[in-house]
Amino acid sequence: MRPTQAPFPATRLRRLRQSPSVRALTRENTLTVDDFIWPVFVRSGEGIEEPIPSMPGVMRRSVDKIVEAAKEAADLGIPAICIFPYTGLEERTEDCAGAWDPDNHANRAIRAIKAAVPGIAVMTDVALDTYNINGHDGFVEDGQIVNDRTVEALVKMTLAQAEAGADIIGPSDMMDGRIGAMRGALEAAGHQNVMILSYSAKYASAFYGPFRDAVGASGALTGDKKTYQMDPGNSDEALRLIERDLREGADMVMVKPGLPYLDICRRVKDTFGAPTYAYQVSGEYAMIQGAAANGWIDGDKVMLESLMAFKRAGCDGILTYFAPAAAKLLAR
Ligand code: PBG
Repeated sequence: MRPTQAPFPATRLRRLRQSPSVRALTRENTLTVDDFIWPVFVRSGEGIEEPIPSMPGVMRRSVDKIVEAAKEAADLGIPAICIFPYTGLEERTEDCAGAWDPDNHANRAIRAIKAAVPGIAVMTDVALDTYNINGHDGFVEDGQIVNDRTVEALVKMTLAQAEAGADIIGPSDMMDGRIGAMRGALEAAGHQNVMILSYSAKYASAFYGPFRDAVGASGALTGDKKTYQMDPGNSDEALRLIERDLREGADMVMVKPGLPYLDICRRVKDTFGAPTYAYQVSGEYAMIQGAAANGWIDGDKVMLESLMAFKRAGCDGILTYFAPAAAKLLAR
């Protein structure tokens, strides 16, 4: 029920917009550095910071450079960093064994960050696409993405990341039953405090294009991901997925992509009241950066406005490539 409002002129809604101080006092949502998880890309080598053309301002970094980036993020007050590995075609295999190698560059990055910057929370990516010869998040048998065998591999990957010191496991694969399997394995291995932030409502989206360039999956991917990622026409299904993952032991849940799916964020938050995150994905980032580089929009203002939208939609936090830039602006 809406509170009753007196008719004009007793009510003049512009009164509450008249000055910066009054606007600050009546603002319903705030954006702070506490809201950010910063996704970064790690690659092999040393001393490397390699730009990603379709994501202006984003780099693939070798482990030593990732540690420097994590230090910078912690100094800015960013609470969490999320590690994605870049793997070249020559490093990809059909059995995806690199995914659970304790010394793959993602796991080396986790260890190095936890040693040098213990205060920042480290989140991971659990899915086979960055190790798979065909770019899919699961094993492919006779052209089908198989579920249960993939879940077994994802559990191995999860345990290797937890062993390396990961704080938050991020399953982005959309297989059925993976959260329960991971949670059970983490408990059995003594990792009771390792959190799971499930990519529960992840849509089959064209907004992931630049990310697939960033992790080296664009050339690798055969076909599409529509048999495991969600159909953009669906909304109730997102609630079923979120409920399922919370029941299986997810601590936090995610909607992905972000801006085109704010309606889903709001429904999820209102329905479950669980810690809810959105991923402002690579294509969203690229659109803002591209328009800003052309002088068509004010990049800084659009960045902050786009991030505020997630707070208004009920999100507790945002995975965003803008995290350091936004943190710097908000500190002013
Ligand atoms: C894959 C994964 C993707 C992203 C995060 N993890 C892409 C995909 O599903 O193809 C996308 C992130 C982005 O676009 O920024 N497991």
